[in-house]
Amino acid sequence: MTDFTARTALVTGANSGLGHEAAAQLAELGYGTVIIAARTDEKARAAKKALTARTDSNAFVAIALDNDAPKTVEAAAATLVERGHTIDFLLLNAGIAPTKEISRTANGIESTVAASLVGHHLLTMRLLEAGALEEKARIVIAGSEAARGDVPTFNPIALDAFAAEHFGGDLEAAIDAYFRMDAPATYKPGDTYATVKLFVAWWAAELARRLPAGMTVNAVSPGSTPDTNAIRNAPFFMKRIMVPFFKLMPGMSHSVADGAGRYLEVAGYGDEVTGRFFASKPKKMTGPLTEIRMDHFDDPAAQHALWNVTSKIAGGVGYPART
Ligand SMILES: NC(=O)c1ccc[n+]([C@@H]2O[C@H](COP(=O)([O-])OP(=O)(O)OC[C@H]3O[C@@H](n4cnc5c(N)ncnc54)[C@H](OP(=O)(O)O)[C@@H]3O)[C@@H](O)[C@H]2O)c1
Repeated sequence: MTDFTARTALVTGANSGLGHEAAAQLAELGYGTVIIAARTDEKARAAKKALTARTDSNAFVAIALDNDAPKTVEAAAATLVERGHTIDFLLLNAGIAPTKEISRTANGIESTVAASLVGHHLLTMRLLEAGALEEKARIVIAGSEAARGDVPTFNPIALDAFAAEHFGGDLEAAIDAYFRMDAPATYKPGDTYATVKLFVAWWAAELARRLPAGMTVNAVSPGSTPDTNAIRNAPFFMKRIMVPFFKLMPGMSHSVADGAGRYLEVAGYGDEVTGRFFASKPKKMTGPLTEIRMDHFDDPAAQHALWNVTSKIAGGVGYPART
């Protein structure tokens, strides 16, 4: 049996839902240190208290990190480095479900993009630069079945067509407009969520080409998990019709424990499994994890453009491609 006591995990969005559950499962597995990141000190400390009571483990370390506010991400990364943490499993779980109304961060970035992608990019780059990821680190970022394009009301962007129609084919200009939700990009809750989760999968594919050999990064959907706090601000149709329907139909949803377990499953995969997107089988919302191979995920030009825009928006913070 693997001994996890020397291992350290960092989980973002650990005060709620899947992140909270994943943090508990990691402590139960025996991780010696589980760093739980939440948007405020207060939330992180409350999560630590609840997790300690649940697991009877003293592994938890609380830290504040708000992906909407780059300074807090920089400060969290600096604190972790200063305290000498080296991370074996980086779980970039934080995110928001589709909300009725568009919102933007103080920097003018649409909030789903900031919460799921830009803040996580900045955190990962700072940890990499500082050597705070272990040689065999596993990075998992939360994806979604919505990105497949086979879930009703969730349609990811057809980037090439959007860029060709409005930006003379310039993919980076098109992605930049989408990040800011500047016209002609338009906020549509389900489609924006699906698009951001497609971006997440592209980000993982591009980062995989840059990470030192031995480290891996994959996008992983926890699957349809209605019993989190995700849909608190969702539009009426999703909150009152779609999700309750999913809960009633066999195979359309699963427990928070099953959802979080998917992250840990992929963290256990070997060095050769990297840059991929794992989710339920096409047209399914739960069940065994499967690598999703669809043309719109396998788009190196879009992955590269997405990386460049994310690095620029994060303040010029990237990681060099391997030579
Ligand atoms: N539930 C599902 O069916 C499902 C399916 C596929 C994918 N996912 C993905 O799974 C992840 C976790 O979702 P969940 O269902 O567990 O929802 P949840 O219960 O709402 O948890 C989301 C967590 O992310 C945090 N968060 C949101 N915005 C943040 C930001 N800007 N900076 C830092 N933390 C932020 C939240 O903090 P606050 O509590 O402070 O808001 C919360 O801790 C998300 O990425 C979601 O897209 C969920």
